[in-house]
Amino acid sequence: MKGFKHLPYYLGQSQIDASEIDATKEIVSSGDLFRYGKEENISAKLERKITNFLGCSHSLVMANATFALQASIVATKPVIGDVVLIPGISFIATANAVLSVGLIPIMIDVDKSGHLCPIMLSNYLKNNPKPRAVIFVHLEGHGGKIQEISNICKENDIVLIEDASQSFGARSGDKFLGTFGELGCFSFQSNKILSSGEGGVLIGNDVNLFDNAKKYTDHGCSRKDNGLPLWNEHSFFGGNAKATNITSAVINAQFEKLVNIQKSLKDKYTEIKNILTGKVHFIERASSDNFVSLWIEDINVAEVFRQHKIPHSNWTHWNLQENPIIKQRLSPYGDGFPWSLKTLQQQICPVSNQICTERISLPILLDDDDFSLLTRKLRSLFC
Ligand SMILES: Cc1ncc(COP(=O)(O)O)c(C=O)c1O
Repeated sequence: MKGFKHLPYYLGQSQIDASEIDATKEIVSSGDLFRYGKEENISAKLERKITNFLGCSHSLVMANATFALQASIVATKPVIGDVVLIPGISFIATANAVLSVGLIPIMIDVDKSGHLCPIMLSNYLKNNPKPRAVIFVHLEGHGGKIQEISNICKENDIVLIEDASQSFGARSGDKFLGTFGELGCFSFQSNKILSSGEGGVLIGNDVNLFDNAKKYTDHGCSRKDNGLPLWNEHSFFGGNAKATNITSAVINAQFEKLVNIQKSLKDKYTEIKNILTGKVHFIERASSDNFVSLWIEDINVAEVFRQHKIPHSNWTHWNLQENPIIKQRLSPYGDGFPWSLKTLQQQICPVSNQICTERISLPILLDDDDFSLLTRKLRSLFC
């Protein structure tokens, strides 16, 4: 048996064909790589499409989702050392975004699905000062109890930011993930459902928060109609995470494939589930759109996958409590900033620990050859 072709690029990136190549060529040949300066460009066009699709008011294509998160936090006009609540399970980027803007992430334990737990959040809010914001993380296209979390944040007047980096195009009920909070962040990095290698999009409904966040991604300024920066009394310092039109062209081409990608994932997920039903313990999904992986909780199965080189990822690297950046309060600054601002006790997150020890994701490989190799391997091992 030959090996897998597309690992670790098993989602949008495995679907790149002439449409992304032509779209990129067109932009490069036009010379319009910078997104501002021309009234109509591919970045603005893509933002309109995303806004219409998700049903939100504003969107901004960006260089990555980590900076979208940073900008979202800064948009709330925080005070240095403020606390931001995050779940005990996520990719470290969620915590890094908080730390990078001088705030302190406090982890809240997750529910059985692996997402921020509404009960644990309410308990925290009853017993502690109000945090600057809550970041809800949607894992691999699952929605968790986002509506309940949104209700709690509204009742307590706390800004909700959704880290939907892994979940573009998935819904909870009839609403897209990323649209429940004031601001939502998506990633188009190489292993996401749509990919331009690196890339992201920030969305929002609250015009003030969105404008603040947008300015922070563009040196703290807004722009005139001719695309030139406008520094005035409403400016502040900021960074730079603007997308180029090349990124937007690739995402635009990938966006046209979303429905087919989602359908293919669903069919393939169903086939794999049929092979493994009754043989392994898997977790049911909360959202029925982006079937990017099958979640399995079985240490023996993880060992079989490891021995037989079946692609899978352990959740241990998502256990934020165990990440040295959090555990040892690591910082690039000489004085340990921003950890050094406060001696806050982290919450203990036993459910996060347990899930990250036991759970693995079996990716649903989009490439047909890779997928048939995967199903052959699974059948030979489990049927
Ligand atoms: C949950 C989560 N948050 C944030 C990010 C960061 O996204 P980006 O690589 O676009 O900065 C990722 C990317 O893997 C992620 O999985």
